[in-house]
Amino acid sequence: MIIRVDQQEGLKAQVLYAYEGEILSNGYPQVLDQFLKATEGGKSGKVNKYAHLEGDDFIQYILLGLGKKEDLTHTSILKATGSGIKALKAMKAKEAGVDLSSFDQDQVKILVEGLIISDYDFNKYKEKGEPSPIESLYVTTDHLTAVEEGQVLGQSVLVARDLVNEPANVMTPAALAQAAVDYGKDFGFQVEVLDREAIEALGMEAYMNVAKASENPPKFIIMKWLNDPESDERLGLVGKGLTFDTGGYSLKPKEGMLTMKSDMGGSAAVIGAMCALAQMKVKKNVYGVIAACENMVSGGGYRPGDIIGSRGGKSIFINSTDAEGRLTLIDAVDYAIKDLKVTKVVDIATLTGACLVALGTTTTGVVSNNDAFYKALEEASFISGERVWRMPIFPEYKELVKHEDADLINSTRMAGMITAGIFIGEFVGDTPWLHMDIAGTSWTGSKNSYQSYGGTGAGVKNLYYLAKNN
Ligand code: BES
Ligand code: ZN
Ligand code: ZN
Repeated sequence: MIIRVDQQEGLKAQVLYAYEGEILSNGYPQVLDQFLKATEGGKSGKVNKYAHLEGDDFIQYILLGLGKKEDLTHTSILKATGSGIKALKAMKAKEAGVDLSSFDQDQVKILVEGLIISDYDFNKYKEKGEPSPIESLYVTTDHLTAVEEGQVLGQSVLVARDLVNEPANVMTPAALAQAAVDYGKDFGFQVEVLDREAIEALGMEAYMNVAKASENPPKFIIMKWLNDPESDERLGLVGKGLTFDTGGYSLKPKEGMLTMKSDMGGSAAVIGAMCALAQMKVKKNVYGVIAACENMVSGGGYRPGDIIGSRGGKSIFINSTDAEGRLTLIDAVDYAIKDLKVTKVVDIATLTGACLVALGTTTTGVVSNNDAFYKALEEASFISGERVWRMPIFPEYKELVKHEDADLINSTRMAGMITAGIFIGEFVGDTPWLHMDIAGTSWTGSKNSYQSYGGTGAGVKNLYYLAKNN
């Protein structure tokens, strides 16, 4: 589907938004007003259809309810927009007009993004998986840059969803690396991929311990978008890239394992954000780093009780082979800081079930060593609508990641989301750092009007705005 800003005569379907009792459009037939009031249209998420004879043709009006004006949120915009797309699909509409003339530029961005992400289905493996009937949507608005940015962000969210939704037999570490290379070529960022020997030569012992049980070799992926030569600032985005997580010898129960192809959701968010930054030609220096591998079970795997090293130099007691994400992340973060010389670093990861329990599926948990940097993320989240919530680093929690025989232990019984973050924080020194746990937000087991089952693309927009505005 493409979004167009030129105007088209003779469209048979027209999408209009409405608050409770008020249609948000210029030049619609007045009769719609009465229709809206009679049907109590305008309520949040409600779709009303009205066919109106204009000249020789019936125009199908689709009225999307946004609820009360004072309660408008990102979610209510996405919900209404998604319902509109579903209605157009049900009508098998090839094209339609969408009147956005009453919205400001921030709203237009979310509306356009919503049109794109709601049209997404992951049906490529189905014999009867049909493409969407919608070919073009003609939007009415003066905010043309907002249309462009909304479109780029929507498509970048879909990049992340596609990467997550591919099954793990297809989306191996090598396939993930290839996807990064391909998107780099499409959108103009540089990508370098290191294989097993190079990873070992870099001293990434923690990462290699996780990777070593799998027959699919690890790939270390480095993406570069360096578009501000005058600035010394370099942001590092480090994404967890476990293309599958069985838990290793600390094997996951079958229910928990079933969706673990999504354990590369953090890396999908980083790749999606790189696509958006490059397409919008954002004037910043940004690195994306992914230590991609698979956490499998085999005679060559690491064991509970092992003591291993790390690139940063600290030794780690393996309490659980299922707390593998942090082991891959610490070596990637260490590389970003020491070798790429990033001045700020963000890691984003489907890291703990504890985060899902604490904050649910709508909010990303955050741990940070820097108030100002956290504030910047919070500001990004107000623009994107992707919720974040910061967890504390109290001294007592720091004690939990220590071990008798080694410098650190890789899992704790309590405060799981916080100690996972603190563990990674042990490898960042004074570099301003944010840890984003998207275990709850990156996957949805139930679809709604703007999210299909599976990957959500969580994190793409927050990373994009964080990079762009700081
Ligand atoms: N990939 C999982 C975390 C996860 C759980 C992501 C549910 C998405 C949904 C991670 O590697 C893991 O297994 N974490 C353990 C940590 C524990 C051993 C300290 C967990 O959450 O149980
Ligand atoms: Zn795990
Ligand atoms: Zn994992």
